[in-house]
Amino acid sequence: MNETSVPVHAPADTLEGMKVAIVGAGLVGGAAGYAMVLRGSCTELVLVDIDAERAHAEAADISHAAPVSHPVRVSSSGDDFGAVAGAAVVVVTAGANQKPGEDRLSLVGRNADIFRQIIPQIASAAPQAALLVASNPVDIMTALTAKLAPQASVLGSGTVLDSARFRSLLSIRAGVAPQNMHALVLGEHGESEVLAWSSASVGGIPLSQVLKVDQTLRSEVEQGTRQAAAQIIAGKGATNYGVGAALALITEAILKDRRAVLTVSGPSSYGPYLSLPRVVGAGGILRTLTPDLDPQELEALRHGAEVLTKAAQSLPELR
Ligand code: LAC
Repeated sequence: MNETSVPVHAPADTLEGMKVAIVGAGLVGGAAGYAMVLRGSCTELVLVDIDAERAHAEAADISHAAPVSHPVRVSSSGDDFGAVAGAAVVVVTAGANQKPGEDRLSLVGRNADIFRQIIPQIASAAPQAALLVASNPVDIMTALTAKLAPQASVLGSGTVLDSARFRSLLSIRAGVAPQNMHALVLGEHGESEVLAWSSASVGGIPLSQVLKVDQTLRSEVEQGTRQAAAQIIAGKGATNYGVGAALALITEAILKDRRAVLTVSGPSSYGPYLSLPRVVGAGGILRTLTPDLDPQELEALRHGAEVLTKAAQSLPELR
């Protein structure tokens, strides 16, 4: 019998389920897209930016990594948010980023104005998408996004990057792989963030049994974690690779329903949106876990919540 070759196409919903859009094709958006191609996070990636030429150039450059890593189909668009249609995750990196010496909270006014323009358009073009916010101040921008897109599943990159920085510095000192160093940074992705030393562990063994945590080490690691962004910005003008990789990890957890425990930003019982350990899977935040904190850490987390609540008052949507 003459076999007819039947083209094999994945069901449309499978392909659609693996589409990611990144709104903002700057250094962070570009790094996130590049990380997604190298990791094979998705099957389709579209970069959207008001600067269409920039979006096209970033997409073209990133697409050249696909043949030597994963066959992700990369495209771009100017500020035509129709391009995000069908995306399962829309990563929002649009807006101003910190300049040397500038703190993240000082960006709130400028980036809120941009979000008021773009979030309703994104939510309308991709009503089924989880919105993953990276623009700073990320906790407040995530809360604003939830207000501007009340039907959407919204989460922020939060302190996933800070926890990675904390884990990296501890793993070097402990002589173990960072993958086996479990240490959380909670609260604000910013100056009031809380390093949860008391629950840090190495492969399930309390940190204090693996590493001598004296005041010198504690100060070095606190300083190194908290000042990482400022030091990198002073040296190269912006951070992008670490946050880009964190965004790819969070996106994968959503797309592949990984149920990964990540310190993403979302609603909290402390009042404002802030980072707590959360189970991230299909659709976004599935569950918020209660971190095991000592009294000083708990007090610091409550202080951070006050800082964020006060800063959020500057936005009418969050009063
Ligand atoms: C940083 C930016 C993403 O911490 O806020 O590098």
